[in-house]
Amino acid sequence: MSERGNSIVLIGFMGAGKSSIGRRLAALTQWSRYDTDEMIRKKAGRSIAQIFAVEGEEHFRELESETVRELPADRSSIIVTGGGILLRKQNAAQLRRLGFLIYLRADEKTLFRRVSRRATRPLLQTENPRARLHELLETRTPLYEKYGDAVVDTAQKNHDEVAEAVLQAAPSFASR
Ligand code: S3P
Repeated sequence: MSERGNSIVLIGFMGAGKSSIGRRLAALTQWSRYDTDEMIRKKAGRSIAQIFAVEGEEHFRELESETVRELPADRSSIIVTGGGILLRKQNAAQLRRLGFLIYLRADEKTLFRRVSRRATRPLLQTENPRARLHELLETRTPLYEKYGDAVVDTAQKNHDEVAEAVLQAAPSFASR
């Protein structure tokens, strides 16, 4: 992989704070913000939960990969991704082409507390969401660690502190 863009790409598990931090970063940098889940919702004309329920996860993953291919490569942006985006290698490769991947990390207990506030995540609508979260975290953590260019811990920080830490970690912004 040769050329890499200057965008800031937020990766991490559900509840890591990617969407909120993405909004904060867009305000701070004045860069455009692209949220893959939002783009998928618009494209499909329905919620992520409805897509999972009607067409299934595979179809959602197809839409997700299509969306990653549509992200702009010609300007610095803030890119917010869904927690499963790295499951497909080609998504990871494309995101790396666009910029710097920041892994927003939090411990399992914190993630569970945050995701329990809203029942919008189809993957956690099971008999035992706590066990499911544990299982998903086990398979995804190695991917976040593999592809993350930098890690920012979010558990003990407020949104401003996390956004500041992301900007400090991202070389594109620091060099401006
Ligand atoms: C998913 C995470 C969700 C969303 C979809 C699948 C996942 O995004 O893309 O429900 O596989 O982890 P968030 O990480 O923003 O919750």
